[in-house]
Amino acid sequence: MVAEIEATYAATRAQTGFAAMSAPVRAAMLRVERHRFVGAREQPFAYRNQPLPIGHGQTISQPFIVALSTDLVAPEPHHVVLEIGTGSGYQAAVLAEIVHQVYTIELVEPLAREAAARLAALGYRNVEVRAGDGYAGWPEKAPFDAIVVTAAAAAVPQALVEQLKPGGRMVIPVGAPGGLQRLVLLTKAADGTIARRDVLPVRFVPMVPAGGGGGTRERN
Ligand SMILES: C[S@@+](CC[C@H](N)C(=O)[O-])C[C@H]1O[C@@H](n2cnc3c(N)ncnc32)[C@H](O)[C@@H]1O
Repeated sequence: MVAEIEATYAATRAQTGFAAMSAPVRAAMLRVERHRFVGAREQPFAYRNQPLPIGHGQTISQPFIVALSTDLVAPEPHHVVLEIGTGSGYQAAVLAEIVHQVYTIELVEPLAREAAARLAALGYRNVEVRAGDGYAGWPEKAPFDAIVVTAAAAAVPQALVEQLKPGGRMVIPVGAPGGLQRLVLLTKAADGTIARRDVLPVRFVPMVPAGGGGGTRERN
């Protein structure tokens, strides 16, 4: 799986600016056992570089996208990171291998419960999972050094921009559900100005407003 991710990094280098995974991200991708985050039926495919179903019409993202999203926010050991869209808990675990603390929000309550139990059983003491609507972020724990959004929003939620520290980075798929979106990197300058870079086309499940119904089945 890691070799396939490296090959995809090389193939997308011109768009992403990354020729290879950073050493901490590579180490985290090697350490976190993806088969622990999927059900029995998906076990044989756990180490393929592809998204897989996790129930409730949702998916565990493609490992390349997990690695790239992590690299894009330039995680450091002292960082506090917010993730929107816990899903299986896999992206949260990869982040937790590198940073001090991860807060993660999942709209689908059973997924939030399962991910919290899984992460605790795997020994992650630095991940807190909350069931709720990611559009509001987690103001009590803000500001964050980085925010990783793993569901596609039509536009960047303002609450998340506000909860990013000066110097912080946010990665988020932006675009209409059902088609391709852009994986966007936002960087907040010391004066609060936001710089935006469109990184590459992606296909994520939609970020659903609370009370907005279930997600549709898509690739990431
Ligand atoms: C592609 S999956 C996430 C994969 C996950 N990061 C992982 O590692 O398994 C997107 C997740 O976002 C969740 N989601 C959708 N809308 C949301 C919202 N408004 N707030 C929080 N989570 C949301 C979905 O329920 C789904 O579990």
